[in-house]
This record gives sequence, C-alpha cells and structure tokens, in this order.
Amino acid sequence: MPDFWIIGPIAWDLALYVDRIPASGHFVQAGESVERPGGTGANVAVALSQAGGRVNMVGYVGADAAGRNMTKTLTAAGVDVEHVQVLPGHTSSVVLLIEPNGERTIIGIHTDLLHTITIPTDAVAPGDIVYFAAWHDSFTTAAQTMAAAGALVTSVPPGTTPAMRYLIGSRNDFSAIPEDATAIVTEGAKGATVYSSGKSDHYPSIPTDAVDTTGAGDAFAAGFLWGIGNKGTLTEGVNLGLAWAAATVQTKSSMLNATSASKAGVSDPCHRESPSNPLFHTP
Ligand SMILES: Nc1ncnc2c1ncn2[C@@H]1O[C@H](COP(=O)(O)OP(=O)(O)O)[C@@H](O)[C@H]1O
Ligand SMILES: [Mg+2]
Repeated sequence: MPDFWIIGPIAWDLALYVDRIPASGHFVQAGESVERPGGTGANVAVALSQAGGRVNMVGYVGADAAGRNMTKTLTAAGVDVEHVQVLPGHTSSVVLLIEPNGERTIIGIHTDLLHTITIPTDAVAPGDIVYFAAWHDSFTTAAQTMAAAGALVTSVPPGTTPAMRYLIGSRNDFSAIPEDATAIVTEGAKGATVYSSGKSDHYPSIPTDAVDTTGAGDAFAAGFLWGIGNKGTLTEGVNLGLAWAAATVQTKSSMLNATSASKAGVSDPCHRESPSNPLFHTP
C-alpha cells in the first residue's frame, strides 16, 4: 500500500444549523451550533488514516488554540503531522451555515496562507499517492517533481499541470473539462461523472438522508484515492468515493470518522485492524 500525501487546508469549523440562509439585513436563529475539526485537506487525511492508510498531512496551522486542536485531531486519527507547519498568524477557520436539506454555505474568516508552505517533495517515494485538496499555481513545480519521481499526483481543479493524473472536484470547481487528465466531477445528490479520453460515464449517488453535506467532496476524494491505492479500477474508486461521501452526508460532521461511518450502518467502521469492513474495501 502506498503512502498518501495530502496537501491542503486544515481548519477549525463553527457549524451553525439554520432553517434558511438569512437574506441581507435579516436575522436567523441557529437551532444548533458546534465547533469541530475540518478543512478540506484534514478531512481527506483523517478519512484515509481511519481506513488504515499511512497518511502524511502537508499544510499549516497557526500558533493558536485552533491549531493545537487540529494537530491533536490529526494525530489522534493516526495522521503524520511532521509536515504540518506552524505559521505565525491564525489557523484557518470557517463558519458553516447548514440548511435542513444538508446544503452548506461557507464563510472563511482568516487569510489563507497555504500558498506559502513548503512541499516536502524529497520525502515522497515512487508509487506514493499525492492529492492537492486545494490548488495554487505556486504548487506546479512541486507537483511536477513528485510526478517525475514516480508518485501518482492528483488534485482538485484546476491543478494546472500535465503532471496531474486525476482531477477530482465538484462541478462548480471546473471551469472547463481538461483534455489530458481524467476528470472526476462530483454533482452533489446527483452523483458523479467521469470524463476520460473524450468519453463520459455517469455514476448516480447512493440515496441518503443528507443532514450535513460539509466534507462530502472530501470524503468522495478520500474514498476514490483509497480505491486507487488498493489497486482498484477507476470504477471501483468512484464507487468507493460515492460510499464514503454517502456516509459523511448522513452525520453532522465534516469528516468521515468512526461516528459517521457507524451511523451509516457500518459496525466497527474505523478499527484499523478490521479488514472486513465493507466501507473500506474496493467493491
Ligand atoms: N444531498 C446528497 N445526497 C446524497 N449524496 C450526496 C449529497 N450531496 C453530496 N453527496 C455525495 O457527495 C459527493 C460530493 O458532493 P458534492 O456536493 O459534489 O461535493 P462538494 O462537497 O465539493 O460540494 C457527491 O458525488 C455525492 O456522491
Ligand atoms: Mg456540495
């Protein structure tokens, strides 16, 4: 099994469950509010680690309480935090407004510093799987170096380098479907469509009662990478992505974790020595 290298945001979330998004000048009362771990990079890293993968997180936190909470969360989930840099300034933090149908609206609070981090390209081995959970053009050289060294490099769009094997992201994130990479486009409750070599294949989502879709795309990406890392086919990877996403949207969490997977009906979901767990197996 290859190592996973997840480059992306690590954030502290304030989730507010509301009846509706307030119109300009209006008031809404949150029915429930909770602070919890999140960030697209951390969400992917935790899901893969819970499944039993060796996961290296590459990103940053600030020297503050949110940063300490996130470092603790990642470490407790078994994620290697050696390459999580502590920067002066704030840990990323977002406010999530979550509507009754599970749809979420995100407000970022602090300036994002991800583009300033150093990517440890030398530590990545041939065959390792790299995923950029956020993309900045300043990552181009690192992506090319890791691909040239034999890593399988993937990204959210635009991931603008031919080094990218797979681009994985939601429909809104693609300004165009790339011609040289395989694009895996998620479409919320509709599922996902894979574009490759001029062809497209649609995969419907697994019907679920969504209560909080925060992190759905991250769980999808993690499931897909887990499938590919386990030598699964593209189809097996997409099906695993759909399964991990379905589990995540059923719980009030940004991450696919023990609680969310077990609420999705999988017993003992994240026990690392539990190879029989269907959620973590290629179909
Ligand atoms: N309301 C929903 N019901 C069922 N599955 C969902 C729902 N929303 C998202 N998903 C699943 O999560 C995947 C990613 O969701 P999507 O909304 O496209 O990504 P993002 O989290 O980036 O907005 C979808 O392909 C689908 O499998
Ligand atoms: Mg969505």
